[in-house]
Amino acid sequence: MKSVVTLVASALLASVAQAQVVQWDIAKRHVGPRFAKRQDGTFTEVITNEKTRGGYFASCQVGTPGQNLTLQLDTGSSDIWVPSSSASVCDQDSQNSGCTFGSFDESASSTFSVVGENEFTISYVDGSHSKGDYVADTFEIGGATLNNMTMGLGLSTDIPYGLVGVGYALNEAIIANTQSASSAYDNLPVLMQKQGLIATNAYSLWLNDLDANTGSILFGGIDTEKYQGELTRINIYKDSQTNAFSSFIVALTSLQASSSSGTDTLTSSELPVPVVLDSGTTFSYLPTDIAEQMWQEVGAAYYTQLGLALLPCSMENSDGHFSFGFGGSGGPVINVTMDELVLPLTDEPQQFPSGPYEGQDICQFGVQNFSSSPYLLGDTFLRSAYVVYDLVNNEIGLAPTDFNATGSNVVAFPSEGAQIPSASAAPNQAEVTQTSGSLSQPTYGASGGFQNHDAESAASLLPPAFDWSRIAVMGASMCFVMVGSGFFLLI
Ligand SMILES: *[C@@H]1O[C@H](CO)[C@@H](O)[C@H](O)[C@H]1NC(C)=O
Ligand SMILES: *[C@@H]1O[C@H](CO)[C@@H](O)[C@H](O)[C@H]1NC(C)=O
Ligand SMILES: *[C@@H]1O[C@H](CO)[C@@H](O)[C@H](O)[C@H]1NC(C)=O
Ligand SMILES: *[C@@H]1O[C@H](CO)[C@@H](O)[C@H](O)[C@H]1NC(C)=O
Ligand SMILES: *[C@@H]1O[C@H](CO)[C@@H](O)[C@H](O)[C@H]1NC(C)=O
Repeated sequence: MKSVVTLVASALLASVAQAQVVQWDIAKRHVGPRFAKRQDGTFTEVITNEKTRGGYFASCQVGTPGQNLTLQLDTGSSDIWVPSSSASVCDQDSQNSGCTFGSFDESASSTFSVVGENEFTISYVDGSHSKGDYVADTFEIGGATLNNMTMGLGLSTDIPYGLVGVGYALNEAIIANTQSASSAYDNLPVLMQKQGLIATNAYSLWLNDLDANTGSILFGGIDTEKYQGELTRINIYKDSQTNAFSSFIVALTSLQASSSSGTDTLTSSELPVPVVLDSGTTFSYLPTDIAEQMWQEVGAAYYTQLGLALLPCSMENSDGHFSFGFGGSGGPVINVTMDELVLPLTDEPQQFPSGPYEGQDICQFGVQNFSSSPYLLGDTFLRSAYVVYDLVNNEIGLAPTDFNATGSNVVAFPSEGAQIPSASAAPNQAEVTQTSGSLSQPTYGASGGFQNHDAESAASLLPPAFDWSRIAVMGASMCFVMVGSGFFLLI
């Protein structure tokens, strides 16, 4: 059974640390450490899909002797940080289950040192934050041990678990805080490369499907058995404010809806849409105009009270899919099927009280809307793709995922700066420029097939009359993109 998600109105404005977070059903967690070491200079860390939170967590050890912590993997930020055992968020009481994913007791580590007192402070797009010292200590992940790893120590935070940010060093919180690129330190993938564990700063992410519990991140290589067809390389774009590569912005250049009844091309006045590929975000967020077209195709309706587009849970069985195209014509296309796009709203199923979906269980749609950038393709998109992040050549490799693949054929990047193995470049990327796309309504020829009936006007649905007292909010959706590096526009 897929569990709970959020009732938080605008996912973005909600703090992750609201009481919701501490109401996780921890008995449902499967966060046991599962290390898999490779022989050939690559390291795999098996990550666990926390469906109640939607995030992907990895088991790590910090300090000497190693203390076990389960940390969330985040491509949308660039610092590792761990909650200190002395942080109040880790206090356990009747309402608060504390830091059940582990916390770090710095006094119990013989290799711990403070490298920047009070210098660590990070805020995420969803309003959550962490503050404390920059420290250095031993850090172990996926069988790889890094000495003297710089990390944030969360002494004051509203998030009861830490994160492993694997983005560009230029997106470290210290740079936003000091406004100086020279304060960059070697973050996890950089240090792995410098300490010789991997040849180049690159890694591959395979999240697997919504019903599977684990995916993996492979540092320093690709696994050719985890995707279908060929990998295609597309450009990462610079942050327009800093004119530097600091987050994984790529160009979404087309979006189609297909079902048994037809295919529609969806449009946005913002095409090509700059989107950040962010594993730390549960849902995906596109410009309102194109998101509304997706909702219309699937019969989802936007409820102002919740700030969310909702649809019947049975739509997960719809045979329709959306095709996300990147990097211009001939670029990679990722199909996302409906069973990846329909997520539960509450832990106790609630039914539509009236309208055409009366009596059906309510779910939320995996693509929601933002009114301005950064637009995000989070886990609801990423699960359908195999994504290779090459931080040296500033390219992303994309291919359709192979769900539940059991085979493995790891190919390591041979040297620093080597291009993504077995991948060809998208042929027409030069044509991708910042243009104002034109918005026109599709004919919605595909919607009949998605909804398996003559499309009703979803807009006429009445808001469900929630009985708030019966709804246990088990977790908020997360949006772990660091705030502070400016807006993103294609340049
Ligand atoms: C930490 O995890 C390792 C690896 O699974 C395990 O062997 C060890 O017992 C754990 N240590 C503690 C203190 O939980
Ligand atoms: C550890 O890292 C810090 C910060 O990067 C650096 O200043 C220090 O020299 C390093 N210490 C050792 C022993 O490598
Ligand atoms: C993958 O495995 C999960 C869990 O066994 C299963 O529920 C799901 O349907 C599988 N997905 C595919 C695409 O085969
Ligand atoms: C993705 O969907 C498109 C449109 O329906 C289809 O032509 C294409 O073959 C699909 N690709 C894959 C890999 O399934
Ligand atoms: C999302 O779309 C709805 C209606 O389609 C609109 O009312 C709302 O303001 C939009 N939200 C954001 C954050 O743009």
